[in-house]
Amino acid sequence: MSRSEHFDAFWKRTEMCGALRLEDEGRQVVLNGWVRRRRDLGGLIFVELWDNTGVTQVVFNPEIVPEVHERAKTLRSEYVISVRGKVGKRPEGTVNSSMKTGEVEVVVEDFLLLSPAAPLPFEISDATDKVDENLRLRYRYLDLRRDKMQKNLRIRNRITRYTRDFLAQHGFIDIETPMLTKSTPEGARDYLVPSRVNPGTFFALPQSPQIFKQILMISGFDRYFQIVKCFRDEDLRADRQPEFTQIDMEMSFIDEEDIYALIEEYMAGLFEEIASVKIPTPFRRMEYWEAMDRFGSDKPDLRIPFEIHDLGAVFKESEFAPFKELIDKGGFVRGLPLPGGASLSRKEVSLVEEKAKKLGANGLACFQLKEGKLKGPLAKFLSDELQQRLIETVSLKEGDACFVLADLDRLTVSQILGQLRLELAKEHGLINSGKWEFLWVVHFPLFERDEEENRWVAVHHPFTSPVLEDLELLESNPQKVRSRAYDCVLNGNEVGGGSIRIHDPEVQEKVFECLAFSREEARKRFGFLLDALSSGTPPHGGIAFGVDRLVMLLCGATSIRDVMAFPKTQKAQCLMSGAPSVVSLDQLQELYIESVAHIEED
Ligand code: AMO
Repeated sequence: MSRSEHFDAFWKRTEMCGALRLEDEGRQVVLNGWVRRRRDLGGLIFVELWDNTGVTQVVFNPEIVPEVHERAKTLRSEYVISVRGKVGKRPEGTVNSSMKTGEVEVVVEDFLLLSPAAPLPFEISDATDKVDENLRLRYRYLDLRRDKMQKNLRIRNRITRYTRDFLAQHGFIDIETPMLTKSTPEGARDYLVPSRVNPGTFFALPQSPQIFKQILMISGFDRYFQIVKCFRDEDLRADRQPEFTQIDMEMSFIDEEDIYALIEEYMAGLFEEIASVKIPTPFRRMEYWEAMDRFGSDKPDLRIPFEIHDLGAVFKESEFAPFKELIDKGGFVRGLPLPGGASLSRKEVSLVEEKAKKLGANGLACFQLKEGKLKGPLAKFLSDELQQRLIETVSLKEGDACFVLADLDRLTVSQILGQLRLELAKEHGLINSGKWEFLWVVHFPLFERDEEENRWVAVHHPFTSPVLEDLELLESNPQKVRSRAYDCVLNGNEVGGGSIRIHDPEVQEKVFECLAFSREEARKRFGFLLDALSSGTPPHGGIAFGVDRLVMLLCGATSIRDVMAFPKTQKAQCLMSGAPSVVSLDQLQELYIESVAHIEED
C-alpha cells in the first residue's frame, strides 16, 4: 500500500476520536488518528481509531468501496490514518457501553495512510504496566501513547495550571532564576557544567533556586514563585529523580503562620479541583522529635492506625537484666503494636525479627496477647502488674502483638521501629488507603552530625533560621538548636519543605562557622549573599513542593517516573536518547577537560 500521494497531504479532521455520539448519526466526518486495534470479522474490518480524546470504531465494508476495504487489510497497529466516512448507529447487540463513542461507528468511504509504524516492542495498553520498565523507557514515545500515561500528564498539567492561577491570585509573580549558576547547597552533589570561555571553571546546575529567591526578597519583590527544574546528583529511588520540578515560593514580612495558612488554602483548593476531595484544614502539626519518637520518621504516615510507645518505665522495673542495664546507661526501650499480630506463627515472628536485624537491630522481642495474657520469651521477666502496664502503654488488645526493641540511641530505636511500622502495615493491609493525611512536621534540628566528615551539616540548608530562643546554643550546644523549618507531609511522603530564613548577616555568618566554613570560605562561596543580607533584608521565608511527588499521589501512581514525560532510570540514564553519552575529544579539549574514565563503547 502506498502512503498518501503527497507525503504531507491529509484531510483535516472534523472531529476528535472521542467526540462522536448517537446524535451525530448520518453525518459525514473525517477522523485522524492511530490504529489501536484491527479485527477482521465476517468480511468486515473493524479498526479502533485512537487520539488523545478517545477511540472511535471505524468499519471497512467490502460492499461499500471494495478497493478501500482491500487496502484496509494492510493496516497495522499504530499506523496513522485519516478516514472519511459516515456516522452510523451500531447494530443491535454491538453497542459498547464502556466507550464514550460506543453507540456509534464510522462507516469508511475512503482513507489515507499518513504514516506506517514499525512492529511494536509492546502493546499500547494499560496492561503494559507489567512490561519491563526499561523497555517502556527506551520506547517512551510509545509508552506515552497509553491512556494511563496520557491521563497522568494531563493531571500534571491541571495541577501546575491550578497552581499558577492560585499563586497569581495571591500576589505572587513568576520570576525565572538561572540554570547556570553557583552551587546551591541542598545536601546533594552538584551537576557541573564546564565554562568554555572561562577555562577551568564550572557552573553548577541549581539544586534549588534557594539563594536567588532570597535575593529577590532583598530586591523587594515580596512574593515570588516559579515552577522550576532542580538538579541533584543523589541516589535515586521511586520518589527521587536527578532532575525534578519544584513549585518554589518565597514571601517577605511573614512568619510560619502565614506560610501554613497559604499552603493549607492552596492544598484544600487543589485537592478539591483535582480529586474532588475535601481536605480538612488546618493541618495537624507535630514537632520533629515527637514525629521521630511516635512514628520513627520525619514523614509519618498517619493513615496507619498504630504507633511506637516508650516502654522504658516498664522494663526498668522488670527482671530482664539486659534491658534494665541499657536503660540505666541512658538507653531506650520502645514497643510497636501490631493489630491482629497474636496470630503470627513462630516462623512469621522470626521473619519480622530478621527484618529488624537487617535494619540494624541487635534483636527484637515479641509479645502476643492471647486470652488476656502476654505470651513470648520475655513475658516471664514481667510481673502481672508490669504486663498490665505494657498492655495499657501500647493500647494492646486481645489478639494483638507488640514488638519491642532496645538500643542506646534514641533515633536508632525509633527509626527501626518506624520502618517496621511501614512494612508491617503494608504487608497486613493496615493502611487506610482512602484517606489523605496532611501534616506539618516542624522544628527540625538545625544541624546533624556528618560522622564521615566529622562536622555539623545543615539538616535543611544553611540559610534556615534557628529558633530565636535557641540562638545562644549555637556555639555551646549546636545539636540542641531547633530550626524554623517545616516539612509538609502527605500520607508518609515529604511533598514540600521550607523555612523562615536568616535575615541577619551576623547570624548567617555564625551558622556558617558552626558548619565549619572558615570566614574566607564562607565569603568565597556565599559572599554575595552576605553582602546582599547587609543591604536591607526583610524577614522572609518560603517553601518548595515536589511537583512530581504531588502529581504521583494525586494520580495514584507508585513512582514519580510514571508522572514525568521523560524520566531517568535508577542509574540516572535516559534510555530513549542514550544520555549521558561520551563526547568527542575535540569537545572536551575546547572545554579544557581531560577524562580519566575508561569507557567501553557499545
Ligand atoms: P527540599 O530539598 O526539601 O527544599 O525540596 C523541596 C521538595 O522537593 C522535592 N524533592 C524531590 N523530588 C524529586 N526528586 C528529588 N531528587 C527531590 N528532592 C527534593 C520534595 C521536597 O519536599 N530550597 C528548599 C525549599 C525551601 O527552603 O523553600 C528545598 O529545595 O518533595
